Amino acid sequence: MSDPEPANLYEAVGGEPTFRRIVARFYQEVARDEILRPLYPEEDLGPAEERFRLFLIQYWGGPHTYSDQRGHPRLRMRHAPFKIGPIERDAWLRAIRIAVDEENLPEPYREQLWAYLEMAAHSMMNSFV
Ligand code: HEM
Repeated sequence: MSDPEPANLYEAVGGEPTFRRIVARFYQEVARDEILRPLYPEEDLGPAEERFRLFLIQYWGGPHTYSDQRGHPRLRMRHAPFKIGPIERDAWLRAIRIAVDEENLPEPYREQLWAYLEMAAHSMMNSFV
């Protein structure tokens, strides 16, 4: 018998370990990025890494731990304290691109994940400069 179809992207790409690797790799880039790093209020990036990982897991069909801990995502509101213009958006996209590319996800999942991240990054902008 063949394996059942994965229920969602979260399962299809390998579940929690895959998201853990992507987000950890992303935060390695944040840590050494001179545009992104100063935006993060906490010295320890660990808690921010966990929030982003739990959010993506929930968004793509995994456990709802993010909302259990944080409530409704309200991501635009949560990003309002940080100036996010084209430079910050592009720095963010550069970092997440490295993390996603290194994972070598199968299609169509890679393309679905990337299209979402690109759209979300544009929608998070709150400044023209
Ligand atoms: C939080 C920057 C885009 C998801 C944060 C924080 C910063 C930040 C500085 C606060 C760190 C913390 O949690 O303590 C940026 C920048 C972006 C961007 C510069 C450029 C466009 C995105 C996108 C997503 C996202 C596209 C989702 C796909 C999150 C989540 C949190 C967060 C889930 C934690 C929210 C919470 O529960 O408090 N981001 N972000 N961010 N970001 Fe972004």
